[in-house]
Amino acid sequence: MIRSLRSVHLGAVLACGLLASPVYAAATVNATPRYDAAQRLFRLDAGGVTYAMGVNADGMLQTLYWGARLPASDTLGPALPAPERSSFDPAGALTPQEYAGWGGAMTATPALKVRLDDGNRDVVLRYDSYRVENDGLAIVLKDAQAGVAVTLRYTADDATGIVGRSAHIKNTGKQALTIDSAAAATWNLPRANDYSLRYLTGTWAGEWHLQTRPVTPGATVLESRRGSTGDENNPWFAIGRGDAWNEDHGDVWFGALAWSGSWSIRVDEDILGQVRVVGGFNPFDFAYRLKPGEALDTPVFYAGYTRAGIGDASRLMHAFERDRVLPGGASAALRPVLYNSWEATEFKVDEPGQEKLAEKAAALGVERFVVDDGWFGARDNDRAGLGDWVVNRRKFPNGLKPLIDKVHGLGMSFGLWVEPEMINADSDLYRAHADWVLNFPGRQRSEGRHQLVLNLAREDVKAHVLQVLDRLLTENDIQFLKWDYNRNWSEPGWPEMSPGEQQKVYVAYVRNLYDILRQLRAKHPKVEIESCSGGGARVDLGIMALTDQVWPSDNTDPSDRLSIQDGFSYAYAPATMMAWVTGSPNWVNNRVSSLDFRFLSAMQGGLGIGANLLEWTPAEAATAKTYVAEYKTIRATVQRGALYRLLSPQGRAPWSATMSVAQDGHQAVLFAFQRQGEESRPYPTLALRGLDPQARYRWRAIHGKVAPGTPDVASGAYWMQRGIDLVMKGDLQAAGIVFEREGGRRATR
Ligand code: DGJ
Repeated sequence: MIRSLRSVHLGAVLACGLLASPVYAAATVNATPRYDAAQRLFRLDAGGVTYAMGVNADGMLQTLYWGARLPASDTLGPALPAPERSSFDPAGALTPQEYAGWGGAMTATPALKVRLDDGNRDVVLRYDSYRVENDGLAIVLKDAQAGVAVTLRYTADDATGIVGRSAHIKNTGKQALTIDSAAAATWNLPRANDYSLRYLTGTWAGEWHLQTRPVTPGATVLESRRGSTGDENNPWFAIGRGDAWNEDHGDVWFGALAWSGSWSIRVDEDILGQVRVVGGFNPFDFAYRLKPGEALDTPVFYAGYTRAGIGDASRLMHAFERDRVLPGGASAALRPVLYNSWEATEFKVDEPGQEKLAEKAAALGVERFVVDDGWFGARDNDRAGLGDWVVNRRKFPNGLKPLIDKVHGLGMSFGLWVEPEMINADSDLYRAHADWVLNFPGRQRSEGRHQLVLNLAREDVKAHVLQVLDRLLTENDIQFLKWDYNRNWSEPGWPEMSPGEQQKVYVAYVRNLYDILRQLRAKHPKVEIESCSGGGARVDLGIMALTDQVWPSDNTDPSDRLSIQDGFSYAYAPATMMAWVTGSPNWVNNRVSSLDFRFLSAMQGGLGIGANLLEWTPAEAATAKTYVAEYKTIRATVQRGALYRLLSPQGRAPWSATMSVAQDGHQAVLFAFQRQGEESRPYPTLALRGLDPQARYRWRAIHGKVAPGTPDVASGAYWMQRGIDLVMKGDLQAAGIVFEREGGRRATR
């Protein structure tokens, strides 16, 4: 019989002798784990998902089921190890273990690989005990002889069924050991040979390309070796079953790693169709030494399942991020409309210039004014000044206060750009502390954008960065920081540590970064932060827990942005995604586009303006003002509603369309775009999604034309079955249509 772990908790805990003072959460949004003592089965039922594990006769903890929620009365055990298939296919490698050590006859990718100082590298993890922690389940695996204990932590979000997994790896032996690789989790999928993988790839100004490839016997590795999240791959995956999985249909398993350092997600399929997704710290150049009694915590790897296609997988991720990951959760503020002059002025920021722009921005209805790079130190270009976070008195003779007061007087909040982890060799800080950067003594220090990376793993560097930022926020009335990070690591040495400890930099750096953000937020709770990394190279669930929004790309061309924003939306919520209206022709590709197209493209996320407002004609300013006002009437729906991708812009497709439905169902917003008009083809009929079939909705156009004969009001069923026809002629056309529900509201996810 399966019993709720909350009810058996104390007895079980005492029986195992594990937890002296159990912590009970008064109110929890995580599901209650259940345990079947007779069969040694663990089960998490949350949202539409059941996740089950069991301890087999050999003491391995193995995955039994991960999929659609099953009745509580169904038994999912017993856990039976896979039989040895041949002398080349041992049981340990074939059994879908939750967290396997590299040891015994293991040939599959292990979750953990360890070297003991005496040369032993054999770690065979076997079930030891379990306990309920305030927020979920903890299962302890051990190899007592090797002196390794691993506590696996599980949470399951009741609303979305998303399971969070991590591992706490402890040296319980008498000698030091080194961890060569440590995953947060291994996710075992049902055995099959018809899976395909979707993942995201990119480069600077070209992030968030959606890729698809079949999962076949062999390995696919998604990773960053750059020291930070990176944009070459993003730590997100989705695996679907069969040929027919799409936006609305099909089994999809998906997940994202909450880590902003080097990471890897490896998708392995063996010849028997067992698929394992192993993700965590990137094993490349990894080594983490533990003295007796010391421990390492991995990041959390979140993953979910849906039967309703990749569209639903994205909506589940969005809801989870919105309500469970982002600071403020469900009660977080909506993203204000911001202005940023980077594309207009680059480094040429000064008090009179910024004041003029602030006046123009305020007149448009902008709510936040952000001063970008160039306000500090000797920063006239990218060759100098990084590290010297003191106001440049040539540009701002009286400090930032006059500008901040002006911005506040205009009714806007004030934001400032910083890049705290970086340093130019031409800076006072580097002249004083050349030893503070990542480096291998005596070796060349490679620069990127003329800058070096401060070694945040050092406690003195961490303290300095924290103190500088704290002072900046204490001395100035700042409401927002744009936190930039513009290069990869190189020569990642930490010469102050012993050779055996230096590679701890991969973990310590990121943990200190998180700690700085945490401390700043605690001390300055009203300050919001954007994660930017030369665009979207640091977007992940780890940084998202400590920041309020992200900058997906430096590419602000509104047509390119359609693909960028679409790719972003597979993994991350529109609530986090900032998008600016900038100048035309666009600096990236010289493409000319209308202000309407630019606004409607940017309104798919958190709206910003980054154009040179001093160059806008009165007519352009009036148009912009109307769009900003319109955006404020729909932003709750766009940012926090349920997103449906109707037409995909991937692969430079000519058409793209999305719609968002408000959480309370009162409003839906449709955005449709035509990049190229070919052969005077009509725009595809758009069948809307997510409406209440019984309710009636009246439409209004922010911009664009609907076909003659379209009713003013119709049922949700009509809009979803008959759909709506738009009239678009020519290149770079766009429409924004708002559907208002007549009468009451209803709840949606
Ligand atoms: C890279 C960012 O992505 C840009 O938006 C801008 O802030 C520049 N850095 C400033 O150096």
